[in-house]
Amino acid sequence: MSITIQHIRSMAERGEPIAVLTAYDFAAARLVDAAGVHIILVGDSLGNTVLGYASTIPVTMEDMLRHTAAVVRGARNALVVGDMPFMSFQESEDLAVHNAGRFLKETGCQAVKMEGGRSVAELIHRLVGFGIPVMAHIGLTPQSTHQMGGYHIQGRTAEQAKALLADALAVQDAGAFSVVLEYVAAPVAKLISDRLEIPTIGIGSGPHCDGQVLVFHDMLGIDPGYRAKHAKRYADLGDTIQRAVEAYVEDVRTRAFPAAAQSFAMSPGEEEQLASL
Ligand code: KIV
Repeated sequence: MSITIQHIRSMAERGEPIAVLTAYDFAAARLVDAAGVHIILVGDSLGNTVLGYASTIPVTMEDMLRHTAAVVRGARNALVVGDMPFMSFQESEDLAVHNAGRFLKETGCQAVKMEGGRSVAELIHRLVGFGIPVMAHIGLTPQSTHQMGGYHIQGRTAEQAKALLADALAVQDAGAFSVVLEYVAAPVAKLISDRLEIPTIGIGSGPHCDGQVLVFHDMLGIDPGYRAKHAKRYADLGDTIQRAVEAYVEDVRTRAFPAAAQSFAMSPGEEEQLASL
C-alpha cells in the first residue's frame, strides 16, 4: 500500500521520524522506494545535480514534469512530491494553480512543494482548497539566493527566529501538510518543530525536526569533490563509478571485454557456412 498524506500526518502524531530523500529518475526512485523512504521529493535541486546548472533558477516546469513522472513510475510505496520551480508560482495565483494542477494530472505525484512562508500562505490555502496537498519550504530558499545574498544559515538571531516562526505558523494555518526547514539554526528548528502540529522536515537544521531530507547525490557521494557539513555521506558512489568505468575502458583497450561469456553464438551448423559467404 502506498504512503498517503494521512499516513504522514499519523506518523508525525505518533512521533515517528519521517525519512525523505530526493530522486530524479526511474532507476533511483525504485532503489530509494525499496529502501523504505517515506517521501520522495523530486526537488528542483535537479538543476544542480542532474542538469549541471549553478543554481535552481533555470529549472523549468517541463524539466520538473518529465523527471517527476519518471520518479512516480519507479515509486511503489513512497509518497512523491514534485517541486514547483522558480517562476512557476510567483507570477500569479492562477498560473500557480494551473502549474500545481499539472504536477498532479501529468505526473501522478501526490503533492507539490513550494518555497516561501507568509508570502505564499494565501496561495497554499487556495491550492489545498482545490485538493492539491502542499509541502511548504522555509529558511534557506534557494530560488531566492540572489535576494538572500547566497546560501547562509537562517535564524541566527532572535529576530530572524521570530520571522521564521511566523512563516512556519502561516503555512501551517494555510493548510500545508508539512514544512521543510532548510539551513535553519538547530535551536530555532527545535522551537518551530515544538510549536507546529504539522511535521517539520529538516535539511541542515539539526536533530529536532520531525523528519529529515537529503539530496540523493550528496548522501551517496556522487560528486566526490562536493562536501557539505549537513550532508552525511552514506557511500562514495562517485569514486566507485569512476573506478568501474576506468576498468571498463581498460578492458576495451586490452580487448579483455567482451569475452565469450558476453558474446552470442550462431544457430548450430551455421557458423561453418560463413567462410563461403
Ligand atoms: O530541491 C530540493 O532538493 C529541495 C530539498 C533540498 C529540500 O528543496
